[in-house]
Amino acid sequence: MSKIAIITGGASGLGLATASRLAQEGVNISVVDVNEEAGAKAVEQLKGQGVDAIFVKADVSKSADVKNYVDKTVEHFGTIDYFFNNAGISGSGKFFLDTDIEEIEKIVEINLFGALYGVRYVAEVMLKNGGGAIVNTSSSAGVTGQDSVVTYSATKHAIVGITKSMVAEYAKDGLRVNAIAPGPTETPMVKEFYEANPKMKENATSGIPQKRLGTPEEVAELVTFLLTSNANYINGEVIRIDGGFTN
Ligand code: NAI
Repeated sequence: MSKIAIITGGASGLGLATASRLAQEGVNISVVDVNEEAGAKAVEQLKGQGVDAIFVKADVSKSADVKNYVDKTVEHFGTIDYFFNNAGISGSGKFFLDTDIEEIEKIVEINLFGALYGVRYVAEVMLKNGGGAIVNTSSSAGVTGQDSVVTYSATKHAIVGITKSMVAEYAKDGLRVNAIAPGPTETPMVKEFYEANPKMKENATSGIPQKRLGTPEEVAELVTFLLTSNANYINGEVIRIDGGFTN
């Protein structure tokens, strides 16, 4: 039987690359994103790869939207085996005291509340159906302190807390929850951020021992490994994938 995955932020970047990689394993995908046009394209691409795929529009910061994407996925596919809890935004890259309160709230609502609501509703289905695997997207800014991203870093450290505490509560019931902590990776989000802050790109690349950014495909490989049964005894880990950046 084909496995079923939900991927938030599945219309772009790490989410889309992972959807495509999982499709190679025959996994059927529920693409969740706020961007309808890109979501429809992603579904077309995945169907072209030979799997079943649906798009559910959602703003992950709204709990009703999160409940809806879980319900729609279960209605269509019957269950949820894998969850890539990944949608997120980066922020403007300003120093913290120059950041306005609206930006702080928005980052927390999407990156933290969005991730919490996702785990809350998805784990309910997984536990009812005997278990499942979740990968949450943290960041190198979720395992180290970095300038110009204080709020983002706070939400990505929180992802580590969600990951570890979910394992403490539910590993015994068949749930595996891990996190990834990517360094700067060449996705549309990062391209946009570095276009607005070119100095930060230079700094980032020169600070990476491998002297290049990561690719979405490299991250997708790790997420696929963590979600599938190859990683059956890996639980509560936060795996850095950053070319040695936070080493
Ligand atoms: P991206 O911008 O290419 O993709 C993010 C997707 O999330 C987009 O399709 C966007 O429409 C969607 N999205 C944004 N807000 C949403 C909302 N409220 N509800 C539903 N969907 C929403 O970005 P990327 O780089 O693929 O980012 C994915 C995750 O990886 C984020 O959580 C980000 O913080 C994290 N990350 C990215 C790194 C990088 O260098 N690209 C490094 C470390 C972490």
